[in-house]
Amino acid sequence: MAATQKQPITGAGPFNGLLTWIDQRFPLMALWREHLAEYYAPKNFNFWYYFGSLSLFVLVLQIATGIVLTMHYKPDANFAFASVEYIMRDVPLGWLIRYMHSTGASAFFILVYLHMFRALLYGSYRRPRELLWIFGVFVYLCMMAEAFFGYLLPWGQMSFWGAQVIVNLFDAIPIIGPDLAIWIRGDYVVSDATLNRFFAFHVIAVPLVLLGLVVAHIMALHEVGSNNPDGIEIKKNLDANGRPLDGIPFHPYYTVKDAYGVAVFLIVFCAVMFFAPEMGGYFLEYNNFIPADPLKTPEHIAPVWYFTPYYSMLRAVPPMFNSQFPGVLVMGLAVVILFFLPWIDRSAVRSIRYKGPHYRWWLAAFVVAFLVLGYLGTVPTNHWGQFGGWLGGAERATVAARLFTVVYFLFFLLMPWYSKIGPNKPEPDRVTG
Ligand code: HEM
Repeated sequence: MAATQKQPITGAGPFNGLLTWIDQRFPLMALWREHLAEYYAPKNFNFWYYFGSLSLFVLVLQIATGIVLTMHYKPDANFAFASVEYIMRDVPLGWLIRYMHSTGASAFFILVYLHMFRALLYGSYRRPRELLWIFGVFVYLCMMAEAFFGYLLPWGQMSFWGAQVIVNLFDAIPIIGPDLAIWIRGDYVVSDATLNRFFAFHVIAVPLVLLGLVVAHIMALHEVGSNNPDGIEIKKNLDANGRPLDGIPFHPYYTVKDAYGVAVFLIVFCAVMFFAPEMGGYFLEYNNFIPADPLKTPEHIAPVWYFTPYYSMLRAVPPMFNSQFPGVLVMGLAVVILFFLPWIDRSAVRSIRYKGPHYRWWLAAFVVAFLVLGYLGTVPTNHWGQFGGWLGGAERATVAARLFTVVYFLFFLLMPWYSKIGPNKPEPDRVTG
C-alpha cells in the first residue's frame, strides 16, 4: 500500500521506470539518500580518511579472490600444498588470484593499522563513537583470526609450525588450556582434522562474522556521523534546513575522493603484486614454499609481520613456574586494552591538533614501541646476538623488547592522567581548512 504512494523518480535518467518500480518495493532511494547523497560528512577530511574506504575495498577483493581460490584448493593434508602449486602453475591466471589474495592480506593489515592510527590522532573513538570503535576492535580481532586460519591452508612448513606454536599457546592457559588446545586442533597435533576445521573457519565462519561487524561498524558511523581532523562536531552548526554548515554530501564529493584513493592504492598494490609478491619474505615466508613436515621443525618460526609486535611481547615476558602463560596473558591484554580507549582518554579536546604536548609525546612513544616490537618479532631470538648499534647483543635486544612492551602498556595505563594535562590549544567553533 505504502509502496504505491511513493513519488515516481523523475528526471532525464534512462532507468527511471525501473528505479521507480524497485523503489516502490524496496527502500532503494531512501538508502541511497541516507547513506550517500544526503549523508553529510565533514568537509575537512584529509589523507588519513582514505583508509576506511580502502579497507572496504580490500575486504571485497579478499572475498572475491578467496572464492576463486576455493574453487581450486583442496583442504586435505595430502593435497593442500600440491593444490596451491597447481593454482600457481596450471590454473589460468591462478598465480594472479593467489598473489592478489596473499598481497591483499598484508595490504589489509597495513590499511587497518593506518585507519586505527587515525582514530588515535583525532580521538575518533570518543563519545559518541564508542560503539563504532568497539565494533572496530572486534573487526580487528576477527581479521587476526581470519589471517591465522588462512595461513595454515597452504600446508607449508610455516603454516604447520606456526599453527603448532600458536595453538600450543592456548595450552598454557591454566586448567582449561590443554583441553582447549586439543579442541581447537581436533587432534593431539596439527593434522588433517585441523586443516579441515581451519578451512571451514577461514572460508565461511569468520568472513560471515567479519562482514556482519563491518556492516555494524558503518551503521554505527552513520548513526553518529563522522569525526574529522579538528575533532569538533559538525552537527553543532546547522543551516536553516538542518544540514551541517561544514558538511558536504558524501556522494559525489567523497565517492570521487575515495575512487582516487583506490586508484593510487591499486598502483602501489600492483607494483608489489607483480614485482615483489613475497616482499622479501615478509608477505610470503620462504619456509612456506617447503611442504609441511611434522618431523622437521624449521630453525626459525616467526609469524607474519602483522602479528610480530604481539609475538615480541610474548617472547619478552619470562615464563613463570615453567609456564608461558604470563606471556600469553600480556599478548592478549595488549589487544583487549584497545576496547577501553574511549573511557581512558580524559582530554578536554578530541584532536591531536589541540591536545597538549604530553599526548603527542606518548603517541609518538607508542608508535615507536609498536614498530620496534614488530621488527624484533621478525628476527629469531637466536639471531638477536647479531644486532648492532644500540640494540647490540641478545641481552640488549631482550631488554629493548621488555622496555617497549612496558611503553606500549603505559601509553594506555597512564592515559587517564597525561591526557588531562594541558596546555591544550583552544578548539575553533567551526572546522578549519
Ligand atoms: C575491515 C576493516 C574495516 C573497515 C572496512 C572499516 C571501514 C570504515 C569506514 C568506511 C569508515 C568511514 C571512513 C573513514 O573514516 O575512513 C570507518 C570509520 C571508522 N573506523 Fe573503521 N573499518 C575497519 C576497521 C576498523 C578498526 C579495526 C577500527 C578500530 C579498532 C576502526 C575504527 C574506526 C573509527 C573510530 C572510525 C570513525 C573515524 C572518524 O570518523 O574519524 N575501523 N571505518
